[in-house]
Amino acid sequence: MFNRLKNLINLKRHLKETYSILNCPLFLSIFDFNIIKFLSKRKCGKRLYYNKERLSFLFTGKVSIPILVYVVTTRCTLNCKYCNSFMPAFTKETHLAPVSFEQFKEDMDKLLKSVDKIHVFQFIGGEPFLAKDLPKMIEYAKSKKQIEQIYLTTNATILPSQELLKALKGVSVEISDYRHVRGIKLYYDEIKALFKKNQIKYSVFQEEQGGTFYSTQDIYDVPQDDNTIKERSLTCHLRKCHQLCDGKLYLCPAHTHMDRNLKLNMFDNVVDIRDCSTKVLTQRLINFFSLPFYRICGYCHFENVKDNFPRAEQSPKTLKLRGGGAV
Ligand SMILES: C[S@@+](CC[C@H](N)C(=O)[O-])C[C@H]1O[C@@H](n2cnc3c(N)ncnc32)[C@H](O)[C@@H]1O
Ligand code: SF4
Ligand code: SF4
Repeated sequence: MFNRLKNLINLKRHLKETYSILNCPLFLSIFDFNIIKFLSKRKCGKRLYYNKERLSFLFTGKVSIPILVYVVTTRCTLNCKYCNSFMPAFTKETHLAPVSFEQFKEDMDKLLKSVDKIHVFQFIGGEPFLAKDLPKMIEYAKSKKQIEQIYLTTNATILPSQELLKALKGVSVEISDYRHVRGIKLYYDEIKALFKKNQIKYSVFQEEQGGTFYSTQDIYDVPQDDNTIKERSLTCHLRKCHQLCDGKLYLCPAHTHMDRNLKLNMFDNVVDIRDCSTKVLTQRLINFFSLPFYRICGYCHFENVKDNFPRAEQSPKTLKLRGGGAV
């Protein structure tokens, strides 16, 4: 118990953030977080939720993960110039081929023994519909009580099979609207019709709202002081999307890119879930979420980031130069 109390102090920032992440309007609009919706409308809601998370930790000795993004493959059917998951930078050597159901099950069984809850579990790619075992993975995730909400984003380039449609019942799907991009084949309207027919809950990303892409930040290694790095890692909105890619837990998609493609020093900011026992993993996760800041954030430079680029602008040159990107 003494150890748990000590860990609890270090986890203060994480426990507070859990509420603010789930209180984000995007998630509130997509999910059926009845308890959170109820709390978020009340003055004392934030404190109540924080205390609920604290009690859960004291009781179980395990952290909850607010949002966990599981990368089923880094391969994609498109090659967007400003992909915020840096997909065009992946190469034959660094790509993650579609994960098998057996691997997914092994990862989830291990992880779920070491965490209390995963509030939002997201399947992502590249393009997640490329993974042939996706229906089985979704069914497995749905069978786990510790996972509260399941979410998936697709670029609408692949028609879902009957098996996938069946699995998607109960999942919130976001369909990206890339209909303005010339020269790509989309099943946007067909997928929407199929989802309606099969009563699958979906939302459309920026349909008819003129939404845009921002350009990706520059990533390079220059010496920076702790305060700058701390400020960046605590304010960056991207740090909320923790990614599990190839058995490694990363802070965000940029972090995955830094490790797999750029081979930068990771300063122990990565949690490998496959190379340790459940007990060790539980403590590694507590340590990861207790960090006052993440040193790898020092690699990100946002000075040249600009907004208002057309969504999903394609980059055939990148594909040729780096041999990565589209399948
Ligand atoms: C990385 S994608 C992966 C899923 C799928 N391939 C797709 O594009 O829908 C996840 C989400 O990030 C969005 N996204 C990617 N790059 C972005 C950027 N530079 N600016 C804004 N949103 C971006 C996509 O539109 C999509 O909604
Ligand atoms: S569709 Fe575009 S934004 Fe989505 S993962 Fe592929 S390259 Fe990235
Ligand atoms: S590494 Fe840090 S600063 Fe860079 S995108 Fe991720 S959370 Fe933001």
